Amino acid sequence: MLQHTDIINLMQSDMDRVSNRLSEAAKVRYADISPLLDEIIAAGGKRLRPLLLLLSARAFAYEETFDTLITAAAGVELLHTASLVHDDTVDRAALRRGKPTLNSQLDTGSVILIGDYLFAQSAMLAADTGIPRVVSIFASTLGDICDGQLMEMLEANDLNQSVEQYMLRIYGKTGSLFAGAAEMGGVISRAPDHTVAALQAFGGAVGTAFQIIDDVLDLTGESATLGKPAGNDLRQGTLTLPVIYFLRDAPVSARHMVSSVVAGSASEVEIGALIDDIRSSGAVDLAVRDAEIRVDAAIETLGDVVPDDDARQGLEEFAQLALKRSA
Ligand code: IPE
Ligand code: IPE
Ligand code: MG
Ligand code: MG
Repeated sequence: MLQHTDIINLMQSDMDRVSNRLSEAAKVRYADISPLLDEIIAAGGKRLRPLLLLLSARAFAYEETFDTLITAAAGVELLHTASLVHDDTVDRAALRRGKPTLNSQLDTGSVILIGDYLFAQSAMLAADTGIPRVVSIFASTLGDICDGQLMEMLEANDLNQSVEQYMLRIYGKTGSLFAGAAEMGGVISRAPDHTVAALQAFGGAVGTAFQIIDDVLDLTGESATLGKPAGNDLRQGTLTLPVIYFLRDAPVSARHMVSSVVAGSASEVEIGALIDDIRSSGAVDLAVRDAEIRVDAAIETLGDVVPDDDARQGLEEFAQLALKRSA
């Protein structure tokens, strides 16, 4: 059985190639902005989406299509990075990957334009693959991410939202890019059509589980470990799965407290107390269980479609990584 780090080790030199391609694509010619951008890219992050793209291709024409895979992998990571630049601006977050965010150092207009620039560069990478279907996956994924982020904004502060609404929006903002990365890996490496479809479904399920865990960590983690501000979701009115479950059985007083936190009228002490209540309510365990169910089902689907044992093992380990992370 591969350990988590074994997948990363196995893919390390290929992932280094992705990093190089990424740094080249994210260069800007402005002396004031260039080091800030370099810092975010160099801080790295987990690089899960390009890893998933490469792992999805491993059982197929991996070597022959390697350069194209690297280009697409850099493209999905840059798309993700661009979406974080905009997300942190929308969320007014001060910290990302343990570093100050662009929006904490530059005016909003500049940050939006830098994000747009990064989106454009990521689209160039997708176009550089020369494969129309990859460009099409890229475009529809970008649409899905924006849709998910818009839903989040429009559904903010709504205490009556359903689990279904939540699932739909996290698929859009996060699941879709995992789905698209896995699909691109399959398409580029010339996997059979039914396998590409299965990889896409696998990516979507794992990405959705990954976002559920992200939302749990926002309530249970520490900013220092996460490298980004903990407890931000509630403060900005985003009701995540554990909170939706908490509200289902919560007494009226707790409901009022959630209302007041999302409305921005609660004190820090009250916010802390509410987070403690949610943590000890069993709602967090229910949310984690939902993520586990998705990952188990996703792993199950790989059995018949990814013939190569190592490749399948890598994807399984990847799926487990989505659950067992602490940052
Ligand atoms: C952060 O994604 C945004 C979410 C979808 C939760 P990651 O946790 O993959 O961010 P980095 O790239 O590792 O920093
Ligand atoms: C980010 O979701 C989704 C994106 C697609 C950018 P979050 O708002 O939960 O991500 P973090 O917690 O800021 O990383
Ligand atoms: Mg955010
Ligand atoms: Mg989050």
